[in-house]
Parts: sequence; C-alpha cells; structure tokens
Amino acid sequence: MSKNKDILDEEKKHVADATRVKYFDIVIDHGQGAKITDADGREYLDLLASASAINVGHSHPKVVEAITAQAKKLIQYTPAYFANTTTAELAKKLVELAPGDFDKQVVFGNSGSDANDAIIKFARAYTKRQYVVSYTGAYHGSTYGALSISGVSLNMTRHIGPLLPGIVKVPYPDRSQRLAGEDEITFSERLFKAFKLPFETYLPADEVALVIIEPIQGDGGIIKAPQHYMELVYEFTRQHGIVFAVDEVNQGLGRTGKMWSIDHFGIAPDLMSIGKSIASGLPLSAVVGRKDIMSSLSAPANVYTTAGNPVTSAAALATLDVIESEQLVVRSHRLGEVARYFFEQESQKHAFIGDVRLYGLNGGIDIVDAQGQPDDEATTKLIYRIFELGAIMISLRGNTLRFQPPLVITEEELSQAFEIMQCAFDELDNGLLKLPETDNHIGW
Ligand SMILES: Cc1ncc(COP(=O)(O)O)c(C=O)c1O
Repeated sequence: MSKNKDILDEEKKHVADATRVKYFDIVIDHGQGAKITDADGREYLDLLASASAINVGHSHPKVVEAITAQAKKLIQYTPAYFANTTTAELAKKLVELAPGDFDKQVVFGNSGSDANDAIIKFARAYTKRQYVVSYTGAYHGSTYGALSISGVSLNMTRHIGPLLPGIVKVPYPDRSQRLAGEDEITFSERLFKAFKLPFETYLPADEVALVIIEPIQGDGGIIKAPQHYMELVYEFTRQHGIVFAVDEVNQGLGRTGKMWSIDHFGIAPDLMSIGKSIASGLPLSAVVGRKDIMSSLSAPANVYTTAGNPVTSAAALATLDVIESEQLVVRSHRLGEVARYFFEQESQKHAFIGDVRLYGLNGGIDIVDAQGQPDDEATTKLIYRIFELGAIMISLRGNTLRFQPPLVITEEELSQAFEIMQCAFDELDNGLLKLPETDNHIGW
C-alpha cells in the first residue's frame, strides 16, 4: 500500500498533464528546512528547493509566524484599489534592495511569468517602441508574454501560436560554445557580433524597446554570461535608448552567493523581475526599476486582484528578514565553494562528469558520454538513484544535474547529500544503474 501511488492515481484523473514535468512518483506532505517528507512518511533532502523558491527553507518559523499573524489581521484586500500597511512596507523595502543609485518604483504580480510580462509592457510603453530582444535557452515563464521571450522547450510553444509579435531571439553566451583556444574576451566579441547581426540586417535599434536577459540562466543550465559580453550588450542598450532588464526570478535573493545575480557584473539594470523565493514560494512577484520607466503606464494597465496580497507581502518581509539575519547570501557563497570542491573532486574520479558550474549554492553539473556529448540517459539514471537514496535532485536540459538546495541547508545535511551523490556516481561508473521502471518520461 502506497499513499503516494493512491493519491497520484486519483489525481491523474483530474489534473492535466501540461502542469507537471514528470520526475518521481511522490506526493509531498510536509517540509522543514532542507527536508521534505512524502505521503508515505519517507524523508528526502531537498536539493531543488521547490525550483529555487524556498531559499530560506521549508516552513521557516519566522515566515510561518508572519503569515499566521497577517492572516489573522487581513488576508486580502485588493491592492488594485486600496493600499494595505504590509504591502506598502514591502514596496519600500524592495526599492531599497534593488541595485541602482536612482529613483525606483515597484509593481507587484502573482508569478515570475507575469512580472516578465510587465517588463515587456513597461519597456514598450516607455520607449514607444515595439521590438523585444531575448535569448535562446531563456526561461521567463508560462504566460503568453513570458513564453514568447523564452527559448528552452518546444513544449512551451507547440500548438499554441501565434506568440507575442515583435520578439527577436539572439544566442545566449554559453561558454561551453567557445571554440578551441578561444578566450573569454574573443568569445564575448563573437557572441556580441551575433547579438548585433539582427540590428545590422533587419531590426532598427531605434525601434527596439527592450533587451531582457538572465545574467545566469537557470533552466538553461546554470550558465553565467561572460562579464565582457554583458558590458558590451549593456553599453549597446545605453547607446540606443533600449531598456536593459534582468530576470532574477530563479537566480535572485542570495541563490548565487550575491543578493542578485546581476550583482556579479556590477551593472544596475533598468528593470528587474523577482519571484519564486521572495515570499518563500507564496504567489508573489515584483518588477522593480527606474521610476521614469515604471511611471510610463497608468492603471489599470498592470493590476491583478491578488498581486501584492497582504499575506504574501508579510511572507516576503519575513523572508527578506531571514535572508539578512541568517546571512544567507554569504552562506550561499561559502557553502557553494564547499559544493564546488566536492563536484570538482568527483569530476576527477568520473569521466562522465563534464563541465561543473557553481555560483553560490547553485550548480549545473553536466553529465556526458565517452565522446563528451550530453548523456541524458545517464543523467536520468543518476537523479533516479539519488532519489532512491533519499535526495531530490532533477535535471536541466536533459543532461545537467540541477543543484539548488535551500540556502539554510546545514553542513551536516550537505555532507549527507554529497555522500548520496558520491554513491550514485560510483554506481554509475560500475554499471550498476538502470533507468527507472516507469512509463513516465522523466524530465522536460
Ligand atoms: C528565470 C525565470 N523566470 C521566470 C520564471 C517564471 O516564474 P513562475 O513560474 O513563477 O511564473 C521562472 C520559473 O522557473 C524562471 O526560472
């Protein structure tokens, strides 16, 4: 008898396939810190943090307390019509926290996706231009605007076009695409040439509203753009009056060992989207940016009944407080270096471990075959074995291990996670791992 199975069998009758990427047949019942427990009472180390949405850990007591207190006071009054004390406080805090020594304003949303839609709206309204430039490999979300600027899965666009018009995609500067002997500067210049190609052939720069980028691509594989490339693109936007926006939904709030992933580059974006961990996973997102851009639309251009809801705002204030008081940004950097050491040591031992990318407690570890080519099957075997051994880890783009534990993971738990992965790595090397016996296709 498995409660997991019974619930999933029943749920399958009611829930459409489009809403869940298949990994493991579990039903989560509760979580605390870096641990989750399924409906059968089995405990797992959570190396996914609910897709980087639980940076402060599951059910952090301070967040729970803030949610409870706010729920007793006021669950909802739509910020679309009247301010409330809690959300007003959060707006001030977010404006202070966003990079940039200029006047800023904020709008709230319910998801990372609608925050990115808002970025498109504000950039178009401010510049009175229509075109938007985004990147291959990007994941910006699932609403029509956000999926139109994404470029990571055919399932996101298949059968549902036409998408938002006026979107141009340029190649993301993925260092793994460097040519033999190509240094980072030359690579950046080559990719910047590819960025400029549309502008030189069919895309008048003075008709482009926005360039939007993940400074470190999350779902694209935890890939960091080179510094020189970012500077070239940023400078180009300055020269042509184009809004430069960054998506911090996945990589923000301490995940990368800095508060924002754009902090790695010393650039203050015009606009930035925030979501996921901001309210410890409650549905809240925000766009923060230059006041002149953010004041280019009038209500009701971007109102949602529940955006900036008081309970989610209370959760966000508590979450930001925890990030600060528990020094989670520094912790992410420090433990990220410990993790880097672990994965690099393992890569010495196992030929199937390819590129290892760690930015804070935030890793993409490529699994490759004997020819150095992506090995999706071995990746699936690994994550499945890691799951059997008691940790939740999924894959990105087929052959990349996604390592994003809650930033509060204890050092002991981290060591346990390493032991589990080490065991799975050894077993793969010894030919002991099989694909799961399931009719589910695993992964994207
Ligand atoms: C970088 C990035 N932007 C936007 C989103 C979309 O956020 P949401 O799923 O909350 O709409 C995601 C979600 O994975 C993301 O990783």
